[in-house]
Amino acid sequence: MKILFVSTTGIFFLIASVIPVTGQEKVDARALFEGKCSICHKTDRATSQKKIPQEWQITVTRMKDTHKAPINDKEAAIITKYLSDNYGKEPKK
Ligand code: HEC
Repeated sequence: MKILFVSTTGIFFLIASVIPVTGQEKVDARALFEGKCSICHKTDRATSQKKIPQEWQITVTRMKDTHKAPINDKEAAIITKYLSDNYGKEPKK
């Protein structure tokens, strides 16, 4: 019976981790940003600023290509979106 319980719990967690949980994406994006973007400087280099999405994209691309931040294209896109959503500003009109 105990074995059955353990495996049921295991399956539950397996399913729970596959089903997208509301807010989970944001948590992951934040963890990715805080993990990868604090290697060479503090994350407040980014979080002390506000940029439009295109500017964040240029910054993240520069970190990746010029400074060799260890992120792939997908991670760069996730971080760019996270920064644009949370540290974004409207483009000047
Ligand atoms: C490999 C080292 C390295 C990593 C990793 C890194 N950076 Fe940087 N970052 C730098 C250096 C060097 C500078 C200063 C020179 C410059 O601005 O290009 C800088 C400057 C910055 C600045 C200030 C300049 C600006 O354009 O506003 C921001 C913002 C920034 N980084 C964001 C990030 C983000 C977001 C990440 C994660 C994707 C990241 N960095 C990861 C090396 C790194």
